Amino acid sequence: MSANPFHRISNPTWVLNLCLMCAVFELAGAEASSGIPLCYEADRAALLSFKAGIVVDTTDILGSWVGRDCCGGDWEGVQCDPSTGRVTGLQLQRPADATSQYMKGVLSPSLGNLQFLEVLVISGMKLIRGTVPDSFSNLSHLTQLVLEDNALGGNVPASLGRLTALKILSLSGNRFLGQIPVSFGSLKGLTELHLARNALTGPIPPVLKSLIFLSSIDLSYNSLSGSIPDFIGQFRNLIYIDLSNNRFSGQIPNSFCYLGNVVDMSLNDNQLSGYVPTQFGDMKSLTRLSLASNVLTGQIPESISKLDRLWYLNLSRNGFTNPLPESLAKGIPSILSLDLSYNKLKLGTVPSWIRLRELSDIRLAGCGITGPLPNFAKRDSLNSIDLSDNRLTGGLAPFLAMMSSIQNVKLSNNLLTADLSTLKLPSTLSSLDLHSNQISGSLTSILSPKTSSFLEALDLSNNKIIGAIPEFKQGLSLKLLAISSNHITGRVPASVSNLVDLQKLDISRNQISGPIPASLGHLKTLQWLDVSINQLTDKIPSTLLGLNGLQHANFRANKLCGEIPQGRPFNIFPGVAYAHNLCLCGKPLAPCEGAAE
Ligand SMILES: *[C@@H]1O[C@H](CO)[C@@H](O)[C@H](O)[C@H]1NC(C)=O
Ligand SMILES: *[C@@H]1O[C@H](CO)[C@@H](O)[C@H](O)[C@H]1NC(C)=O
Repeated sequence: MSANPFHRISNPTWVLNLCLMCAVFELAGAEASSGIPLCYEADRAALLSFKAGIVVDTTDILGSWVGRDCCGGDWEGVQCDPSTGRVTGLQLQRPADATSQYMKGVLSPSLGNLQFLEVLVISGMKLIRGTVPDSFSNLSHLTQLVLEDNALGGNVPASLGRLTALKILSLSGNRFLGQIPVSFGSLKGLTELHLARNALTGPIPPVLKSLIFLSSIDLSYNSLSGSIPDFIGQFRNLIYIDLSNNRFSGQIPNSFCYLGNVVDMSLNDNQLSGYVPTQFGDMKSLTRLSLASNVLTGQIPESISKLDRLWYLNLSRNGFTNPLPESLAKGIPSILSLDLSYNKLKLGTVPSWIRLRELSDIRLAGCGITGPLPNFAKRDSLNSIDLSDNRLTGGLAPFLAMMSSIQNVKLSNNLLTADLSTLKLPSTLSSLDLHSNQISGSLTSILSPKTSSFLEALDLSNNKIIGAIPEFKQGLSLKLLAISSNHITGRVPASVSNLVDLQKLDISRNQISGPIPASLGHLKTLQWLDVSINQLTDKIPSTLLGLNGLQHANFRANKLCGEIPQGRPFNIFPGVAYAHNLCLCGKPLAPCEGAAE
């Protein structure tokens, strides 16, 4: 017995050895070494059918789908259950920074054969077209279906209502048509429903009432209509709600006041009417609220001042009336961005609580403000200001002083004065709109790279500016330059070609003379050119034919003569763009005399 201690256990050893042998054999056959079961053959076939449906893949993700084992880790975006070799996840996402990459093709119905799939994400591929195959309704284990930012179309398949394990459903950023399927009422476990940026119509179906676990709903940028259902106020887990940019009408439901967890609410750009519910301030968690661009009326409710975490409030473009609630003076302690523009508010002056707060974005356009520009106490916190379309008077210079973070200033359509020759612009400024004021002086110092190297947009149209356009030095980053309807004289300097980023140039309605410089043709990014109603002479330089991106051009009412450059884009502009000149000829006007047709 002791002579051969192994003898008695020889039988089990033999079984064990045999098993090891089969395993080694199997592994060797698949060239794998991890010990994880191989990808299930039917799942591999389903993935390869999907791959075959994608005819172009510039992301190169599918290039990694080669070989026998789709679970070995080499197949990018494929996850498996290590104990069964079944595919449980397929996640194909274009990297956010790879904006030019895409996949072109269709979604193969064979994906519906991935019986054990739990997560399916195919996002940002831009050119995946066609419909969502009905076979997807067979993916009974699916908890996440995310097909964002492709080019899928047709109706949202009602059969998706069979996917009752779903927690996350997003079809945002496609071309889906028709209504939200009534079958979605069965998706009772859903926490995220995102159907934004499609072409959906019709109402929010009443059956969605059963989606009581929703924490995030985004239906923005569709053409949905009808009223916003009351039952949304029962979704107590709701954190994020975006119904903006649709055609919803009727009142904001009172029940919304119970949404104590909502952090971000956008109802803007609809046709909502009536009063804002008085207890709106009960939504204690709100940090962002936009009700802009509706037809809401009455006063802004006092209770809004109780929103302690609110940093963004946009109530612009409604019919709100005076007075602003007094409670606001002590309330909304976290506010950073406030937009009350274009209501029926007649503020008279900027309320002191707005002047004294540390805000970054203040927009009070068309708010009936008169008198001098307000003296903001915390100037160095300001990033954007819009006080356009008021009746502000007096000087501009002191207002711009000491704004050390300011980027955007819009003061158009007021009665402001300033001498451009002495005006100091904050060095951080990127956009300045002063059109339709009483600005005087010449352009010389404001267009020197010293004072405005960050400036990208400058609109000084419809003021009282005199003198000539100065030479442009290198280093300006202007994309928009509008100086129309002033008293500007002199020539267009050839150095205009130093504005290498220019997209829009409007010098119309001045007294500018001399020829159009040929160097204008070097501005390859130019899209919009208006030189009309001046005293420009000579020919339109043929170099302008190089401006391939030009979508609008106007040469009307000058003293131009000679043949219009023949070729795109010039042939596509209408005849009026060349009318009232000295002797322009050639298409789209009459042929030049003596021209060989
Ligand atoms: C769902 O799966 C079953 C069984 O495999 C199949 O017969 C049926 O055609 C599938 N449904 C769809 C819509 O593909
Ligand atoms: C407020 O909403 C309007 C309309 O949607 C929009 O145009 C504006 O830019 C918003 N204001 C701010 C400060 O975001």
